[in-house]
Amino acid sequence: MAAENLPLVILTHSLPAEWLTKLEGKCRTVVGPWDATHFDASLEPYLAEAEGLFCLLTIKVDEELLKRAPKLRVVSNMAVGYDNIDVAACTARRIPVGNTPGVLTAATADLTMALLLAAARQIPQASKDAREGRWITWSPAGWLGADLEGTTLGIVGMGKIGRAVAQRAKGFGMKLLYTDIPLPPEIESELGAKRVELPELLRESDFVTLHVPLTPETRGMIGEEQLRMMKPHAILVNTARGPVVQTAALLKALQQNWIGGAALDVTDPEPLPPDHPLYAQPNCLIVPHIGSATRNTRRRMAELACENLLAGLEGRHLPNCVNPEVYAEA
Ligand code: DGY
Repeated sequence: MAAENLPLVILTHSLPAEWLTKLEGKCRTVVGPWDATHFDASLEPYLAEAEGLFCLLTIKVDEELLKRAPKLRVVSNMAVGYDNIDVAACTARRIPVGNTPGVLTAATADLTMALLLAAARQIPQASKDAREGRWITWSPAGWLGADLEGTTLGIVGMGKIGRAVAQRAKGFGMKLLYTDIPLPPEIESELGAKRVELPELLRESDFVTLHVPLTPETRGMIGEEQLRMMKPHAILVNTARGPVVQTAALLKALQQNWIGGAALDVTDPEPLPPDHPLYAQPNCLIVPHIGSATRNTRRRMAELACENLLAGLEGRHLPNCVNPEVYAEA
């Protein structure tokens, strides 16, 4: 097909070219800036003609945007989470929405353990002290942290990532509690994981890690009441979505030592403004949404997003479709 007849695709952000080779010769692309925090104005004129949209989790795909893109046939999100997309509005237009599950499970579980260990062992503070000249001698009572072995990890949400965290935590000798629909008994006993309700998990755990998607039900699910249930030394880890935790309540919990600390890969708002009081909390470790940030994982996410996009353009079922009901007979 002549290049000018290929379908037009909007890529909301520029990405490394070697991640996008699958698109070559299959579509025309217009590309937004790499650091766009919202749908970039430079892409507006292309919405009327675009047949595909390849977007990141920072881009809101809502009714307003969809109205301006009447020819859109596929939305491909380069993320497993898709809370940035109004899926119902896409479904109403019979637009399939793709995501990238599976390929980021290990990387996100690894980062969860890295945050948990860093917070438990005060690694950011110890590293800062060493660099800044406060490492005077081997200090028997300095930089004391928490053990993992024999302590309890509460996993809120036992999907793919929750389970991958469970496997890793088991290797560290941790006891496991979880909330979610029950796992098959053989997997529960292989992991040594016990299913409980959220209040029991919060009361019994030394570490709590969140792995639920952001939905109306999970938005704000960790607030003042829940934080007050946690042990005073407990550490909260969030690699899921920022709004699952109520930021003001978390700040209060850290300031008033209701809990021992927090380690956050995600925040609400995201990013936090640089002067946000959470940054001033010594018991709060914050990293910039890097759960899936390994070279292989990000490349696989982009490739999967390309596969979803091309399937949509070619009228095939998306390999990973979050609204398969679009394929039901009209
Ligand atoms: C996702 O894919 O939803 C992650 O948050 C990206 O790291």
